[in-house]
Amino acid sequence: MLAVRNLRVRYGQVEAVKGVDFEVNSGEIVVIVGSNGAGKSTILKTISGLLKPTEGTITLDGKPIHGLEPSAVVKLGISQVAEGRRIFPQQSVVDNMLLGAYTRQRRRAEISNDLEHMFERFPILRVKQNHVAGTLSGGEQQMLAISQALMSHPRLILFDEPSLGLAPLLVEEMFRVIRDLHAQGATILLVEQMVTKALELCHRGYVLETGRIVLSGPGKELLADPRLQEVYLGRDASVPVNGGSGKVDA
Ligand SMILES: Nc1ncnc2c1ncn2[C@@H]1O[C@H](COP(=O)(O)OP(=O)(O)O)[C@@H](O)[C@H]1O
Ligand SMILES: [Mg+2]
Repeated sequence: MLAVRNLRVRYGQVEAVKGVDFEVNSGEIVVIVGSNGAGKSTILKTISGLLKPTEGTITLDGKPIHGLEPSAVVKLGISQVAEGRRIFPQQSVVDNMLLGAYTRQRRRAEISNDLEHMFERFPILRVKQNHVAGTLSGGEQQMLAISQALMSHPRLILFDEPSLGLAPLLVEEMFRVIRDLHAQGATILLVEQMVTKALELCHRGYVLETGRIVLSGPGKELLADPRLQEVYLGRDASVPVNGGSGKVDA
């Protein structure tokens, strides 16, 4: 479905992604794990069309998509759930959800139908639909970010560290949501610092270190691979490799 070949991305002088190859097959959950600064967000932003590669190709069903505008990428069926739940905090919950629907031209009835599905999936969003999004808890904002992405009916959903800053119970809930989405037919590309959890969840995984993929394989094999432990220098792979990024909210 998605194929990334020799991808290089730089920010001015800094090369953040240094020749990365991977693919995501239809129906798979694929994860890229790596510590803070490894280049995970840069890869997702490049797939989403927010950044342009300096070299390499990204194809969807064999057709190049690198160089397309973000809205064009969404139209092709790829939708990203942003890192840090980047919703519009001043706008209402329901307006945030509708924003996700605008990129694909659809009729009103279909859109309200989609909203209803999101409210069924995340009942708290129905309760708080008229609240200003910035007043939601961290977990609720993450649900909102996911429903925003789902409103465009993606075939491929990109998740950028959905566990970031969430309390442990909410992390479990997040991973459950990802499993559900997959069970309902979505293909998923997830980038995470939660190495163990992410590799347990996925079909195939890639380990990214400073812009390069250093290990890859089925999630279960990677978990058992002593080289994975070496990459993380004996750190407890169930905790974020940078020790967490501070804020935890409920
Ligand atoms: N806007 C930017 N300008 C300059 N350098 C950046 C920018 N965003 C990220 N970087 C650098 O690119 C590298 C990869 O960053 P990023 O993709 O955000 O990593 P990750 O998501 O794995 O934590 C890091 O060295 C980071 O400092
Ligand atoms: Mg990141």
